[in-house]
Amino acid sequence: MGFSEAQEELVLRSWKAMKPDSESIALNFFLRIFEIAPAAKPMFPFLREDAPLESHPKLRAHAVTVFVMACESATQLRKTGDVKVREATLRRLGATHVKAGVADAHFEVVKTALLDTIEGAVTEMWTPEMKGAWEEAYDQLAAAIKEEMKIAA
Ligand code: HEM
Repeated sequence: MGFSEAQEELVLRSWKAMKPDSESIALNFFLRIFEIAPAAKPMFPFLREDAPLESHPKLRAHAVTVFVMACESATQLRKTGDVKVREATLRRLGATHVKAGVADAHFEVVKTALLDTIEGAVTEMWTPEMKGAWEEAYDQLAAAIKEEMKIAA
């Protein structure tokens, strides 16, 4: 599926604007997931310990990873027309998410949280086109992970 140069530019431009503040934006992103879907919380084994969400280093790491992977997938989509996460990584991601009990609905929650967070972070830079570009990048990455999940299930 096509991903245009303009879409890639929008993702990269907003990513660049967010990068200096990526730690706190990534944290907002994951807090937003649990705001939308509190039921997702027990899925993260490292959250079962008794510590506030804000203080979880693994939570921050996961949020940054999802951001970076969506961004990288945008670049790859334009270059090759396909999501290019290394084969081994994609395979592992499929297995991890099956094991964690992640379902399609969770991917939708994460998508909404991601878009909300970027909108809040880039403020006046946000446009329907920018939203569309991030949606496309995320959808294709999520589809690739879901494909691997089917194989791993
Ligand atoms: C773990 C990426 C969506 C829940 C991971 C890991 C990565 C990752 C890189 C680390 C483990 C590994 O490398 O195997 C992504 C990406 C996503 C996504 C790129 C979307 C495009 C989701 C969704 C959920 C979720 C929708 C459910 C709310 C988890 C859980 C773990 C995990 C529970 C295991 C944490 C642990 O046990 O340490 N994810 N993820 N992820 N992810 Fe995601």
